[in-house]
Amino acid sequence: MNPLEQARQLDRDDALAHFRKQFHHPCNEQGKPMVYLVGNSLGLQPTRTREYVLGELDRWAELAAQAHFTGEFPWMPYHGFLSQPMANLVGALSEEVVMMNSLTANLHLMLATFYRPTPKRHKILIEQHAFPSDRYAVESQIRWHGYDVASSLVVVAPPAGSQLLDEGSIRQTIEELGSSLAVILLPGVQYYTGQSLQISTLVAEAQRTGCVFGLDLAHAAGNVPLDLHNDQVDFAVWCTYKYLNSGPGSVGGCFIHQRHHRRHDIPRLAGWWGHDKQTRFQMPDRFQPIPTAESWQLSNPPILSLAAIRASLDVFRDAGGMAPLRAKSVQLTRFLQELLEQRLAGDVRLITPVQPDRRGCQLSLAIRADMGRRVQSQLEQRGVMTDWREPDVLRVAPVPLYNSFEDVARFVHALQECMNSCD
Ligand SMILES: Cc1ncc(COP(=O)(O)O)c(C=O)c1O
Repeated sequence: MNPLEQARQLDRDDALAHFRKQFHHPCNEQGKPMVYLVGNSLGLQPTRTREYVLGELDRWAELAAQAHFTGEFPWMPYHGFLSQPMANLVGALSEEVVMMNSLTANLHLMLATFYRPTPKRHKILIEQHAFPSDRYAVESQIRWHGYDVASSLVVVAPPAGSQLLDEGSIRQTIEELGSSLAVILLPGVQYYTGQSLQISTLVAEAQRTGCVFGLDLAHAAGNVPLDLHNDQVDFAVWCTYKYLNSGPGSVGGCFIHQRHHRRHDIPRLAGWWGHDKQTRFQMPDRFQPIPTAESWQLSNPPILSLAAIRASLDVFRDAGGMAPLRAKSVQLTRFLQELLEQRLAGDVRLITPVQPDRRGCQLSLAIRADMGRRVQSQLEQRGVMTDWREPDVLRVAPVPLYNSFEDVARFVHALQECMNSCD
């Protein structure tokens, strides 16, 4: 069987294949659907999203302020309808998850609570290629507290000659820094390499030194199985526009472990939406936090964005949650890896780990330097959308909800053609 036939057979055997039709796929100028492998950047729009968002626009038109209190999904408790389904995807308790703000804003809120530097314990550990926004947030927090980035920021790098983080050496660094370490911030899945980290062992090491462990799950939520509650993660933040298919700039997610909810010894930046729901509208002067992650909310949330998240979470529910999606994802990405090895071994080098439990769906491919970015634009002309990261990496993310094995075969074929024409 050639790869395309093989792919079509795999698609016929795929119990989740019909979900592809539940998404809008972008088309080229001739109106032909593109092969979309950029779900790591912006997830596709579920077909039902329009109905959910228009439904709220209609309710606004017809009911105005009354829509806060009436209907199946009143606006007042609307964010709460998302907590359990989102918690299911990240392995949390419902009360540990709140949908609010955006990733970087939530990271600042989490650091306001969990980064309480003292002359003895003031360091924050991040990885060398942390997403720039995380780095800016962390550095600005250090300065904001009057500390010096040069002595308070600790950056862990991959071992020489590798682009992948080594958990063993991260654990060793944590142990060496000991009680000077205040906060660790690491990615669930690294955005450039696609590497996923073994969270539970890192948290255990953090707990031994008494520091806080936080995660950026931008590339992990909706992509890999997570177990935030049982892994004892202190806090996590993520966006919903990548693997959670909720639209550009949509509201982010925030996890705060249950053990912190009732603590009085940690501060939080407060707003009225975090205040006790029973007395919020009595407009009291004294802030009374809701005893859940919701107490970190500041403002009443944007319902139109939450409606898009609700639509997406319903698709995840219908697909059976992360377990079946992950099973397909492992198969899909393995198929991609195998075709690349068979067809393009000399031209692309896989940066992402080969072991399925050390990666999500994304593969990052180092492209021969002389071909560079031309490959990505030629792929686009051939109807395949991928994502380029300087200096030489093509990121490809087959997403189990809406990508097919045929998409993968078509991508590898197109890449082969591009490589030949760029040569
Ligand atoms: C890994 C990672 N962290 C943080 C961010 C920043 O997200 P936001 O703009 O929603 O704050 C992004 C955005 O793409 C990201 O990929």
